[in-house]
Amino acid sequence: MTAQLDMNEVGAFAEQVAGTIIGGATTAMMVLGDQLGLYAALARSGAVTSAALSEATGTSERYVREWLAQQAAVGVVEYDAAAATFLLSPVHAAVLATDDSPASMIGAAGLVTGMHRVVDRLAALFRSGQGLPWGDQDPVIFESTERFFRVGYRNSLISEWVPAVEGLAQQLEGGASVADVGCGHGAALILMAQAYPNSRFVGFDAHAPSVHVARQRAMEAGVSDRVTFEVEHCHGYPADGYDLITFFDSLHDLGDPVGAAQHAWNALGKAGRLMLVEPLAADDLATTIATIPTAALNYAASTFLCTPNSLSQPVGLALGAQAGESRLRDVLHEAGFAHIRKVAQTPFNMVLEAAPRTSP
Ligand SMILES: C[S@@+](CC[C@H](N)C(=O)[O-])C[C@H]1O[C@@H](n2cnc3c(N)ncnc32)[C@H](O)[C@@H]1O
Repeated sequence: MTAQLDMNEVGAFAEQVAGTIIGGATTAMMVLGDQLGLYAALARSGAVTSAALSEATGTSERYVREWLAQQAAVGVVEYDAAAATFLLSPVHAAVLATDDSPASMIGAAGLVTGMHRVVDRLAALFRSGQGLPWGDQDPVIFESTERFFRVGYRNSLISEWVPAVEGLAQQLEGGASVADVGCGHGAALILMAQAYPNSRFVGFDAHAPSVHVARQRAMEAGVSDRVTFEVEHCHGYPADGYDLITFFDSLHDLGDPVGAAQHAWNALGKAGRLMLVEPLAADDLATTIATIPTAALNYAASTFLCTPNSLSQPVGLALGAQAGESRLRDVLHEAGFAHIRKVAQTPFNMVLEAAPRTSP
């Protein structure tokens, strides 16, 4: 069999695999750099020796030197051999050294750490077909999800997604009641509460530790007078006649997304609307893998996080993180929503609006 192989092609694919494995190793190095404040210190210092970086961060020079060597080898920092210094350029710092930049990606690195921590459990689930609840993931997943998703929400939610839903910005400015289902650490809702102080917001999530963090985040952001968070299942929150119900990257995680959308339908007021934010995907696998740059990351997250959570709950529909617009429309139609339209799209997300309310 080996004789029939084109060894040039084998070599080329081996190089591709090596690049992927180097990427995995580098992700672990990035998590270290983030945790120890090495990127933040590099962003402040400009070109720096390993001794100066270790001193600035209270870390051991020998370890820092090895870490810097790897970061130079992979092209994250520039090495100046004559001066024995390492430079994190402002461009690279914008992606790695802060959560506040619109280009920040560092929050996503911890997702990979979290995936590695459940590899053995997942292998067993592949054999049994059983699920794994979100709350049984390593806590690094909850924090990384918040950090990574918050960047996208901060970039687009108030400036693009809300204005894309006709009349919604004015409604929120005047004072509306909003519920967010599967709110996690509350990143999206807190941004809305900051932007629209006359409105009232409540986030629901089945995972109590996430709700606890969301409450802390609201206090830190100074918006706990208008945003509250409750431990509640997607079918269990009160039907309080909300003006807006949102699902931020959570509908596909649910065991019963149709039932959850039906519950939302019942919980909306007469002119209420649903805003659904989901990972960007085409309607078929071939197009998704050819056109969505983050497809490989999304399918990995779906395999480790979203699909297991859905399978751990009643119905276990397991939409997957890249269900695509048509499948999502089907879910909303089945739940009784009409006039569904895609209102916005970013490189990571698509936003659907379902309104106005009609009889199911
Ligand atoms: C991928 S996270 C998204 C969190 C948040 N919306 C965000 O954008 O950062 C999915 C969330 O859905 C929650 N969730 C999963 N199943 C749920 C259910 N049946 N009812 C309510 N929340 C659920 C999880 O606990 C988790 O916080």
